[in-house]
Amino acid sequence: SSNGSTEEEETLAMVKPDGVLGNYTERIKNAVVESGFSIIRETVIQLDEHRASTFYVEHSSKSFFSSLVKYMTSGPVLVMILKKENAVADWRAIIGPTDARKAKITHPHSIRAMCGLNAEKNCVHGSDSLESARREISFFFGEISTDAKNLCKSTV
Ligand code: PPS
Repeated sequence: SSNGSTEEEETLAMVKPDGVLGNYTERIKNAVVESGFSIIRETVIQLDEHRASTFYVEHSSKSFFSSLVKYMTSGPVLVMILKKENAVADWRAIIGPTDARKAKITHPHSIRAMCGLNAEKNCVHGSDSLESARREISFFFGEISTDAKNLCKSTV
């Protein structure tokens, strides 16, 4: 980049069906902006069984998979591309542990503590690595964003 001092990243954030139906979207977006992320793209969509299964394919052998897919198709989700320096790790830190019951105890100021219920209804998603972020961003937005393209080029 022309700046040189910071390397910005993009990550994929999602407000899951319980977050959307529970009217947490605005509070979550406020937390996003207050934490220094820019929202690059956003869209509200209803996942069908095929799309939800494909998104979570790495968990397809887990006992909770069919329940997770059923839950993720139970209502609309809000997906966003968030951008800032260290976006992947910082968004994971802000949302807190996967199991919202644990989040309420160990990370009471996290987003999952605010609006999640348990390991399934945990209100929000965040990409777990830069590689996952690239896959998930193209999964929902159908193209690799400019920054991801530049990162790919720089690794050639
Ligand atoms: S694992 O097994 O450590 O890879 O799983 P984890 O990273 O904790 O969670 C991956 C996603 O699966 C969801 N999950 C569950 N859904 C339903 N029931 C149970 N018990 C359960 N445990 C985990 C969890 O919400 C994760 O979703 P994302 O969207 O990736 O946060």
